[in-house]
Amino acid sequence: MAPSSSRRPLRHHQPLLLILAISVSGLLASVPASAADGRPELGGDGLHREILRDETVLRLKELGKISDGEGYLERTFLSPASIRATAVIISWMKEAGLTTWVDQMGNIHGRFEPENSTKEALLIGSHMDTVIDAGMYDGSLGIISAISALKVLKVTGKLQRLTRPVEVIAFSDEEGVRFQTTFLGSAAVAGTLPESILQVSDKSGTTVQDVLKMNSFEATAAAITQTRYKPESVGSYVEVHMEQGPVLEALHYPLGVVKGIAGQTRLKVIVDGSQGHAGTVPMKLRRDPMVAAAELVVTLERLCKEPNKLLTYDEECGCFTEESLAGLVCTVGELLTWPSASNVIPGQVNFTVDIRAMDDQVRETIVTSFSRLALQRCDDRLVDCRVEHKHSAPSTLCDPELTSQLKLAARSAVSAMPGRSVVSAAAAETPVLMSGAGHDAMAMAKLTKVGMLFVRCRGGVSHSPEESVMDDDVWAAGLALASFIEQAAVVAKVAEVVEQNAVVAES
Ligand code: GLV
Ligand code: MN
Ligand code: MN
Repeated sequence: MAPSSSRRPLRHHQPLLLILAISVSGLLASVPASAADGRPELGGDGLHREILRDETVLRLKELGKISDGEGYLERTFLSPASIRATAVIISWMKEAGLTTWVDQMGNIHGRFEPENSTKEALLIGSHMDTVIDAGMYDGSLGIISAISALKVLKVTGKLQRLTRPVEVIAFSDEEGVRFQTTFLGSAAVAGTLPESILQVSDKSGTTVQDVLKMNSFEATAAAITQTRYKPESVGSYVEVHMEQGPVLEALHYPLGVVKGIAGQTRLKVIVDGSQGHAGTVPMKLRRDPMVAAAELVVTLERLCKEPNKLLTYDEECGCFTEESLAGLVCTVGELLTWPSASNVIPGQVNFTVDIRAMDDQVRETIVTSFSRLALQRCDDRLVDCRVEHKHSAPSTLCDPELTSQLKLAARSAVSAMPGRSVVSAAAAETPVLMSGAGHDAMAMAKLTKVGMLFVRCRGGVSHSPEESVMDDDVWAAGLALASFIEQAAVVAKVAEVVEQNAVVAES
């Protein structure tokens, strides 16, 4: 069961920001110094290459091989491969000195709890599920680099000196591949997963409740409620993730921080027509759902490429600015036909729609307009159409204070890294990016303030086995995270001093 408490939330004080800014730069500098308790630090230079680079990369490869598919990576919510991966992740968490448990939605937790601490926890996480034919970095990088960062703090004797609980969470579902609703894991922890989720079914008719039961979870509404964390027990959530886009590579910079994450909507469109013989039904007499679906796919593309041309003024706004259209992207990633044979006019075609934008009003308008256009086009073609809403998440802003702490940690780590590729980058500011991809941080933002660190990847490629992150960038991310965690513990200390001083001043 998740530890929770009715701890008093720390108040935020402006002077704290100043103290932090001053203390942060000294903290990373303290990493290379001699280890606590006189123990030698691995690598001797404070950069912990063996753990933060070599071992982290090995573990990424190991986790990347735990798959439900043969010859490709697929790990969906509570699948057999997920259960095998759980055992491996637990063993790594234990080795890093963490107390572990699996909650009622299959999330894996590894926590360090300082003695007699009454402070809010720093949560660090990402997801262990994958898309179909995935790469090995999406999600896994965030989990493994967090475990590695805490392992470094353990071997250098710093873990025991943290003043705040720190917890790594490997979320069971973020991609939503199996049930089409994302964030089953993180929404449960954030306390926003509705009970109705238990009845949602996958393509084969198996429900979330069935899958939970098959894996010996309680699978009840009460168990979902039990998984939630009390907001007052959590101070912040931080996530390391591969960028999944080309910006950092173009800037020649290994790490970036995230300002905000695009909102997203997932729809399912079901088109019903008349099934028939491909050789006998004249073209004029057909009610073919395949051609109707094809037209809808193209309509969606037009709507998202040139929205102002297709939107009408009776819709909420038919004149979006270039700025508000930032990040608007629409995708049909899955299309199924029934009965799917070359000599049969299909009886039914259904397909998924994924719509994202930074501006929630733009996204909502596109969703409404697409639904309206879909029904019109289907009427014209004498087929029946239904548009089902599967998932919707508003855009999320990262916390500015956490973001500037991550920025400093990233810059210090990059400056400390050896090697030619990072020397020139060391002079630059840590880039600030928007994320078009969804992340568990979106769900966790309902619980606490969130921050994200992005890691450069090759060619911006993700959701593909071609995903690639340089080993040295994995290393830099781990180093930045270790330094950030140390800072977070000091934050608690400084906040306490500021708060105590305030109490003294008031009395
Ligand atoms: C998750 O990777 C998403 O953005 O769909
Ligand atoms: Mn993904
Ligand atoms: Mn991801």
